[in-house]
Amino acid sequence: MKKTRVYLETFGCQMNVADSERAASALHAAGFDLADSSEAAEVVIINTCSVREKAEQKAIRRIGDINRGRPDDAPIIGVMGCVAQLEGELLFESAPSVRVVIGTGATERIPQLLRRAEEGLGRVIDLGERRSETFEDIAPSERHSKHVAFVPIIEGCNKFCTYCIVPYSRGRERSRPANEIIGEVRKLLAQGFREIQLIGQNVNSYRPKSEVGLEKFSGATPFSKLLRAVASTGMPRVKFTTSFPRDFHADIVKAIDENENLCNWVHLPVQSGNDRILRAMRRGYRVEDYIRRVDAVKNARRRIALTSDVIIGFPGESEEEFKDTLQLLERCRFDGLYIFKYSARRGTPAAKLSETVDESEKTRRFLALEELQMTIQRKIYDDLVGAYVEVLVEGQSARSAADVTGHTSCNKVINFRGSPGLAGKIVNVRVTGSKSHSLYGEVSNVL
Ligand code: SAH
Ligand code: SF4
Ligand code: F3S
Repeated sequence: MKKTRVYLETFGCQMNVADSERAASALHAAGFDLADSSEAAEVVIINTCSVREKAEQKAIRRIGDINRGRPDDAPIIGVMGCVAQLEGELLFESAPSVRVVIGTGATERIPQLLRRAEEGLGRVIDLGERRSETFEDIAPSERHSKHVAFVPIIEGCNKFCTYCIVPYSRGRERSRPANEIIGEVRKLLAQGFREIQLIGQNVNSYRPKSEVGLEKFSGATPFSKLLRAVASTGMPRVKFTTSFPRDFHADIVKAIDENENLCNWVHLPVQSGNDRILRAMRRGYRVEDYIRRVDAVKNARRRIALTSDVIIGFPGESEEEFKDTLQLLERCRFDGLYIFKYSARRGTPAAKLSETVDESEKTRRFLALEELQMTIQRKIYDDLVGAYVEVLVEGQSARSAADVTGHTSCNKVINFRGSPGLAGKIVNVRVTGSKSHSLYGEVSNVL
């Protein structure tokens, strides 16, 4: 019998990428084939993100596009991810071509759900919870990269920042058992992966039910114990994201200091440089608390690159309050910054606030912030010229066939002359040039 071909398309954060990998693995194991394009598939699953209105619209538009031009062989369309979890049954009404709705806890059950859809049993929906925090193995070929693997350590979020939909789409925090995480990292190492990224909405609040697997490791929090345990596997490069300022303990910096393979990069979203706005966002810290964390990062033995997220135009944000964010940027001098225009999400407390900031004003603030960040960032990148950086080569550069591309241990994109055969190798590169978002260099030696 011909196997059903499934095409998976992923929007959103690393957690969605990790879920798509798990879905692909489960589908393969259950006898489905994975297709390379939606045209070549009998089933199309869109993995969606809801964090801002634009992200949600993008996914909905994509769902609408799939059947265009295929009147006679329309595929079964499934929606998974955060939009699926939040909209549930409503999706069948708003997007009538959708046949299967797969909530954020139902990833492992996708094969059964698709079988039911194939049997023509009408609409299929599963918004249930994950049955356990224990994940099935992912086949290496289903990972998004051959060299870098995402390892979820905690899912969900308990913070309920007033603007954010994630606690509703992903539920409460659930941490994976440490011994399972460490086991997965060991397996990835044996499979040839050179870098892992421990992922979660807030990795610092990692708190497994038991500390089995962490007994031999010191640390002020279960997360810093986990960092030391994962470092001890010998995985050449370990990164983690996202950190949350209030839970970011100085011991994390100490763990990075102690372990060469814990990479010198921290992503610590600040959201605003003004205390009143931070309080309205219910972030649980003040600007001075944030700066204390930043100073701990900057005082590390190695230079640790620091990146952040900022939201502009939160309801009621005045010009003065916005300027405090500009000032914070000068103070922190981030290596990279994601700037987001505030987007009201239905069901969140902030969506009920009436003092909205005009779209044109948001654009003005966005551009002002971007301009300042570019000045800061250019200087940071320029200062790296002449330095030696460690790079994991990921493959050929999209720009030039003579170049390869990769990320530095401080998580910057870098391109340099080299053959595609270097992919998967960690090399020492001397930086010879810089742009605002990438570096250029030449190989010094292959490690
Ligand atoms: N857990 C992480 C990131 C969550 S989502 C954290 O707490 O920082 C990634 C980023 O999207 C956030 O850091 C925030 O800057 C942005 N974001 C979340 N909700 C948003 C909204 N409603 N409007 C605009 N940006 C938002
Ligand atoms: Fe959203 Fe806040 Fe949780 Fe981050 S910490 S996912 S911004 S609620
Ligand atoms: Fe988006 Fe859901 Fe991730 S809302 S950012 S895909 S947790």
